[in-house]
Amino acid sequence: MNGVLESEMQSGAARNRVNRRDFLKMCGLVAAALSLPGRYAHQIADALAAAPRLPVVWLEFQDCTGDTESFLRASPVQDPLQSGKTEPQITDLLLDHISLDYHETIMVPSGLNAEKSLSDIVSAYQGQFVAIVEGSIPTADNGIYCTIGGRTALSRAQEVLPKARAVIALGSCSTDGGLAAASPNPTQAKGVNDAVPGLANLVNMPGCPANVVNLVSVIVYLITFNQLPPLDSQKRPRFAYGETIHDDCPREDHFESGRFVLAWGDEGHKKGWCLFKMGCKGPVTRNNCNIVKWNQKTNWPVEAGHPCIGCASPSFWDLQAPIYKQLANFDD
Ligand code: SF4
Ligand code: F3S
Repeated sequence: MNGVLESEMQSGAARNRVNRRDFLKMCGLVAAALSLPGRYAHQIADALAAAPRLPVVWLEFQDCTGDTESFLRASPVQDPLQSGKTEPQITDLLLDHISLDYHETIMVPSGLNAEKSLSDIVSAYQGQFVAIVEGSIPTADNGIYCTIGGRTALSRAQEVLPKARAVIALGSCSTDGGLAAASPNPTQAKGVNDAVPGLANLVNMPGCPANVVNLVSVIVYLITFNQLPPLDSQKRPRFAYGETIHDDCPREDHFESGRFVLAWGDEGHKKGWCLFKMGCKGPVTRNNCNIVKWNQKTNWPVEAGHPCIGCASPSFWDLQAPIYKQLANFDD
């Protein structure tokens, strides 16, 4: 198999680099991210330990590589309080339990060899591999605005995705066209659901980028329970998109009490008051950034003092703009 990072991923060092205690801790973190009771940590651990690596192909179309960047930055961090000790992260589970066999940005093969990698994997693991799609799919003029290996993104998606066990549309561009689909959408960019209709096992994970913790949680759920996690009417995992940013926002008390930031750097901003009047789209945006956070759980936009711009909302480049304009039709 022409796997990406194959030698590292299939080495014992990669797969066994954490001890059982840390492994269980990571599984507990996934259970928490999935909103499952803590007792599921052992079931997840047993399933992951027993399962062969899950073959994954990662297709990039019209994208900025933001979701790939999010994925690549999900590496372990040093715990500053315990010199030399690596604090286990949920995301450690990802590379240890999948085989990322095709990824246009980071794979070793190039040119015809890369194309061969994809066709080999799709035929060898038909119905078993997971396809992750990053970026939108242009459909104008028979899709000629994005071609890879001489073939359009549209034809590649139509050929590969129906053969996957599950398709994960990762990031807003692959869920609804994202930036490329913003008005006037000259390439008629679409998300996977519209470009390749009828995929039975499609998961939409909007966000600009999507959070890799949620990606790991979906994959771990699939390995553990042999099915996708519960989805909502827009095919989004409920555990990640069930609540709005506003629902659990630490600034929500200030919202209820009418304490708002009115200018950058004013007293309210320094005191952590609500960002609603600075354009926060948290009340209409479903995502769990406030729980999983970013950069190894360091922080997230609202905690850092910036309004949520609604990056996980449908058609957010058109519908949530201007970024700093207060939401209309929402009581304050
Ligand atoms: Fe938080 Fe934004 Fe809601 Fe204010 S409007 S409470 S900052 S999510
Ligand atoms: Fe996006 Fe809002 Fe989270 S801008 S990253 S959904 S806080």
